[in-house]
Amino acid sequence: MLDTLLNEDLLPGEAARPVRLIAAMRHAVLAGGKRLRPFLLIETARLFGREDDGVLRAAAALECVHCYSLVHDDLPAMDDDDIRRGQPTVHRAFDEATAILAGDALLTFAFDLLADPETDEDPELRSALVLDLARASGLGGMAGGQMLDLLGVAVSKAEDQIRRLQSMKTGALIRFATRAGARMGGGSAEDVARLTRFGEIAGLAFQLADDLLDVTGDADAVGKATGKDADLGKATLVGLHGVEWTRKTLADLVMEADGLLEPYGERADMLRQTARFIADRDS
Ligand code: IPE
Ligand code: IPE
Ligand code: MG
Ligand code: MG
Ligand code: MG
Repeated sequence: MLDTLLNEDLLPGEAARPVRLIAAMRHAVLAGGKRLRPFLLIETARLFGREDDGVLRAAAALECVHCYSLVHDDLPAMDDDDIRRGQPTVHRAFDEATAILAGDALLTFAFDLLADPETDEDPELRSALVLDLARASGLGGMAGGQMLDLLGVAVSKAEDQIRRLQSMKTGALIRFATRAGARMGGGSAEDVARLTRFGEIAGLAFQLADDLLDVTGDADAVGKATGKDADLGKATLVGLHGVEWTRKTLADLVMEADGLLEPYGERADMLRQTARFIADRDS
């Protein structure tokens, strides 16, 4: 779906799609990646019996926001990384200005996808998705979390502050994944609340595992540099409590996530396994 969407064909209202910008966007989006967020969205919608191209388009929108966040996260002004997904980062493969614009265009494209009637015929559902993704991505979500992350050296390293930072910079998009899946699948208000909570826990576990891999992981396996958080003075729970505490906390989070899925029985096995994967992954 991402490959199909990011092409040279103009949409109504577009004047031209500069070849260099599409190439940079395609590099950002198609050069690997676990696709965890879209996977969670798709599997959550499937839990409620929906499986179609509309769901894939919403999942693609979410992956566009995620990939934009990585392109900007890697910029010299931010984490200054040269390798992402085992490939040169976008500003390395192209140049900084192009990387900034590729991020801008990916973020905007995500909302184009969600607002388009091809994603869902119900305008109320579309506008709920747009609002949720805006909140998850912006000032009080991912971008705000990145600000707190960059201030990590300056802020006090209190546990609740680190948890808040992580729930914003990483948790918000993962929370959107399961929330949007439940909405698109037509889950009840209670289902949406339950799956939103599942996404919050998965999101916390995800960043804990990322920070753990930064300490214990192999750069070739994770496809990016490791040992960076301590160097850059990032406030992480691994830094605060150590590796053993983090492993134990990850196991507890998986149990909590499992518990939330109880009402859905075996139908939720894929989501259960995904929570386990998030905690145990080595890449
Ligand atoms: C990395 O995300 C950035 C974080 C939010 C920790 P992923 O580990 O999901 O990156 P890809 O998409 O698989 O490359
Ligand atoms: C990235 O966190 C979070 C976002 C991109 C929003 P990190 O800076 O820890 O991610 P990696 O380790 O570079 O993938
Ligand atoms: Mg970062
Ligand atoms: Mg980074
Ligand atoms: Mg990291």
